[in-house]
Amino acid sequence: NAPSATMTIDAAKPGPRIDRRIFGQFAEHLGTGIYGGVWVGPGSKIPNTRGIRNDVVAALRAIKVPVIRWPGGCFADEYHWREGIGPRKQRPVKVNTHWGGVTEDNAFGTHEFFDFIEQVGAEAYVSGNVGNGTPAEMAEWIEYMTAPAGSLADLRAKNGHKEPWKVQWFGIGNELWGCGGNMRPEYAADVTKRYSTFIKVPRGTKTLKIASGATHNVFDWAEYNWTEVMMREAGSEIDGTGVHYYTFPGSMRSKGSATDFDEEGWARALAKTLKMDEYLTGHEKIMDKYDPQNEKLIAVDEWGAWHDPTPGSNPGFLQQQNTMRDAMIAALNINIFAHHARRVRMANIAQMINVLQAMILTDGPKMVLTPTYHVFDLYKPFQDATFIPVELKSTWYHKDQWAIPAVSAAAVRGTDGKVYLALVNVDPNSPASVSATVNGVTAGSVTGRILTADTMQALNDFAAPDRVKPAAFTGAQIAGNSLSATLPAKSIVMLELN
Ligand code: AHR
Repeated sequence: NAPSATMTIDAAKPGPRIDRRIFGQFAEHLGTGIYGGVWVGPGSKIPNTRGIRNDVVAALRAIKVPVIRWPGGCFADEYHWREGIGPRKQRPVKVNTHWGGVTEDNAFGTHEFFDFIEQVGAEAYVSGNVGNGTPAEMAEWIEYMTAPAGSLADLRAKNGHKEPWKVQWFGIGNELWGCGGNMRPEYAADVTKRYSTFIKVPRGTKTLKIASGATHNVFDWAEYNWTEVMMREAGSEIDGTGVHYYTFPGSMRSKGSATDFDEEGWARALAKTLKMDEYLTGHEKIMDKYDPQNEKLIAVDEWGAWHDPTPGSNPGFLQQQNTMRDAMIAALNINIFAHHARRVRMANIAQMINVLQAMILTDGPKMVLTPTYHVFDLYKPFQDATFIPVELKSTWYHKDQWAIPAVSAAAVRGTDGKVYLALVNVDPNSPASVSATVNGVTAGSVTGRILTADTMQALNDFAAPDRVKPAAFTGAQIAGNSLSATLPAKSIVMLELN
C-alpha cells in the first residue's frame, strides 16, 4: 500500500504559542564542542571576533538560535566559574574528567560565553554546579553575572564587562540522578530547594530556575517518579523542570553506527524517537497535577540522536556524523514539541557543534552544516508561531517489528500571519500522498521547501558539504480549502500558504 495521509487543519482554532526556545541548543565543554568548534582564540588564523569563530556565529545567526545552554551537561556539576574569569594566561588548567580526560585551560569562561551568545543573538541558559559546588559558589556566580553594583560587579568590570548580563535561565545542576551526584529524587528535591533559595537576581530582572530533570534512557526510577517527587517537594521553588531523552538507535551500550545502518536501523531509530510524545504526555500529567495553572515549563534540555563515536575519534568526545536519518529524528521531535507547546517551552538539542547530533561540524578552518542544521532552518517559521490543530490519519510504515505512522504533521500560524504546515514522510522507499482540508484560512497559492536525499545514509562532509540541503518544493497545490501534496520518500517539507 502506497503511503498516504488525510488531515484537517483548523486555522480558526489557534492553540498555544510555540516558544522559539524549543529550537534552543546545548553547548558543553566536551570534545571539540567549545574548543575548536566555537573558541579558537584571538590569535587564531581562523577568522574570529575576540576568539570566537565568525563562520560558526554566522551559521547560527542564520537559523536564529534563541537560547544556548552552557557549560554542561555533566561538566556543569564540576565547573568552578572563578577558574574561567580574569586574564586567560592565569586561569588554571584542569582535567576534563568526564569527557576524554583532556586538559581544560578555562580559556572559554563566563565572559567568552556571553560574548558568544551576544554575537549569535541568543539568550543564556547557564547550568550551575550542584554536584561538587556549594550554594555560596552558585549564588556568587549569579551575583557576578547579574549584579549592577558590589564587589563582584566591580570584579566583572575589572575583567572587562561593566554592565550586568541577563541570565534568562538557570539550571540547578544537571542529571542529579547520575553524573550530577547520584542522588535519590527525594534528596535531589531537597538539594534543589536549598540551592534555589540562594539564586537571587536584581530587582526588576528575572531568571527562571530549571530543576534537573528525569531521563528516559537509564534507570527506571529516574523517569516519571523523578518529576513527581521534584514537583511535589520543590515545585514551589522552581519555574520548570528538565527532561532528557535521547534517541539511541541501538541500545545504551551499543548505540550503533551513525552512518552504516540498514532500513531496520532507520525504522528502529524513528520509532524510538516517537516515544518522546508518550514521555512528554506522562510528565505533563504530573505537572498538571501540581501546577494546574500551567505556569511552570518543561525544558527538554537534552535530546537528539546518540550514535557510536566516529571510528578513530576519542570516544570521550562523542563525535558522530549526521545523516538524513538524523534530519528525520530532528523533524519528528520538533513536530512533537509543537504538539506539546502548552508545557514544553524550551528544548536544547545535544549538542550544537561537533558533539552528538550537531548542527555544525568543524575541522580546523573547515566547517560543514549538517542535515540537522537544515531542519532547524526549514522550521524557522515555527519560532513564536501559534499552534494550529491538525487532525491526521496516516497509513503505517512497517519494517520488521517497527511500525510508525508514515506521515507526521504540525501546523502553525507564523508571526507573519501565514499558515505553515510541516510534513514528514518517514518511508524511505515510497512517496506519500497527502490531502488536507484547511479551515479558517483563505490561501490562493502554496509554496514550500524540502529536505530529502537519495539515500537514508546521505550526509554532508568536508569533501561534499552540500549533498543534503533544502530545495524549493513544487509538489503541493491548493484549490479553495483543499490542499494536496506528494511527499518524496524520506522527506521533510515545510509548506507556506499564501
Ligand atoms: O550530552 C552529553 C551528556 O549526556 C551530558 O553531559 C549529560 O547531561 C548527558 O548524560
